[in-house]
Amino acid sequence: MHVPLDRSRGVPLARQIQAHLERLIAEGRLAPGVKLPATRELAQTLGVNRATVAVAYEELVAAGLARAHVGQGTFVAERPAAPVASGEEARATLDWSGLFSRSARIVAAEEDRGRALGVPPAGGERVISFAGGMPDSALFPIDAFRRVLNEVLRAEGEALLQYSPVGGYPPLRRHLSGYLLRFGVEARPEEILIVNGSQQGFDLIARTLLDPGDAVAIEQPTYPRAMQVFRAVGARLLPVDWDAAGPRVDGLERLLGRQSPKLFYCQPTAHNPTGLTLRPETAHRLLAVAARHQVPIVEDGFDGSLFYGPRPGAPLKALDRAGIVVYIGTFSKVLFPGLRLGWLVAAPAVIERLQAAKQLADLHTSALLQAAVHRFCERRLLDRHVARVAAEYTRRRDLLLAALARRMPDGVSWTEPRGGFSLLLTLPGGMEAVGLLPRAVERGVAFTPGPAFFVDGTGERTLRLAFAAVPAGRIEEGVRRLAEAIRATARQPRARGARELVPVV
Ligand SMILES: Cc1ncc(COP(=O)(O)O)c(C=O)c1O
Repeated sequence: MHVPLDRSRGVPLARQIQAHLERLIAEGRLAPGVKLPATRELAQTLGVNRATVAVAYEELVAAGLARAHVGQGTFVAERPAAPVASGEEARATLDWSGLFSRSARIVAAEEDRGRALGVPPAGGERVISFAGGMPDSALFPIDAFRRVLNEVLRAEGEALLQYSPVGGYPPLRRHLSGYLLRFGVEARPEEILIVNGSQQGFDLIARTLLDPGDAVAIEQPTYPRAMQVFRAVGARLLPVDWDAAGPRVDGLERLLGRQSPKLFYCQPTAHNPTGLTLRPETAHRLLAVAARHQVPIVEDGFDGSLFYGPRPGAPLKALDRAGIVVYIGTFSKVLFPGLRLGWLVAAPAVIERLQAAKQLADLHTSALLQAAVHRFCERRLLDRHVARVAAEYTRRRDLLLAALARRMPDGVSWTEPRGGFSLLLTLPGGMEAVGLLPRAVERGVAFTPGPAFFVDGTGERTLRLAFAAVPAGRIEEGVRRLAEAIRATARQPRARGARELVPVV
């Protein structure tokens, strides 16, 4: 640890050390419970007598800022009493507020709107949370993954921990090339770019295809984090509504006739938040319209191996004869979101640009994780895992649909998911999800208000119920509480909530 000491000041060195540590503790830079350097060590570093450091530490202990444990050392107190920084130690700091970029200001405004909505934290014993759109970590195949991680580290550790090709770990790109054929997507390894999850895919696409002021056509409702990335680069979002068949092709066509969006973003299967899948005829019509207007489609693809009921149709990328689809895939839904591992598929000229943007962003995705996932797939462990979770998520979806049918009051409707982790519920006329949420939480159930998924902030009557991470045994009770909250709100409507967007997964 470095402590600036001024030997010409006439202030005792012990006092200077004490004041410096007091400030670090007050500012949270020395966190509660952290061990302070041994007195001998710090004395040596600072070139002072060990007794000088010991005096400083004793003063900190006396002030309640630190605790001394015999034989173990001195630790920052768990709840240190906040010392008042003397004028001498108070630092003049730069005012950063005027220095942030336009993009940073847009992102901050989005985050503020999200906080204003007050989406409750997922989980907790008391609250049954349908708010988190993620897989259930209790189903993660952790032991199997630990084994493949150890194996690849043993076999290829030196190479995997060195810098790696920006495009991705070559065996994983080759594997994905074969894997995608299952779904009719034909891509050579060099047409696949490994990225840090779909989220980085959105970012690279936005950097590569969009300039500030550009328009982006985007399905509505949609995935909020995709909206945010496009907005952050200064794009204007033009919504294209979903109906039971998918994004409205007539709506897209009208929009393309009047405006010139640089791309159209959609999730054709296992759509977040509705869980719906577009109909095959919609897929063909979307591709035809996009090709006629020469507008790229960014297809955020849920993995085709994880679905409930009938197998979903082919991805748009599989039907793409004009080379206009940029496909985004991810291991987040079928394996672990924490891997941050996904891929983009596009025409070689596009992949080349995306790859250049990726190189600037982070040089490459962790080769160690790519190699582990590759081995996991090669061993068919992923197939086995997906079969297991698909069965469990189907059970949870069925339980949720049955409970909704049994318990929801008249006037409530909902989508029937074919895939994904959630459904969208519509409340009776006059009721808003933002206003319902606090009442629901009071009764021990949570959800995500629908306006989060609507580009124009509408969808006030809708809410998303994410079921994949809710244990089967809690679903019925969660729906019972929600139905009770809806009935209570119908009896006593409270002030309408603000229309806000919220960042969620
Ligand atoms: C539609 C959609 N796209 C992308 C993502 C993010 O995926 P990733 O973890 O690969 O960034 C999510 C996460 O929930 C999602 O719902």
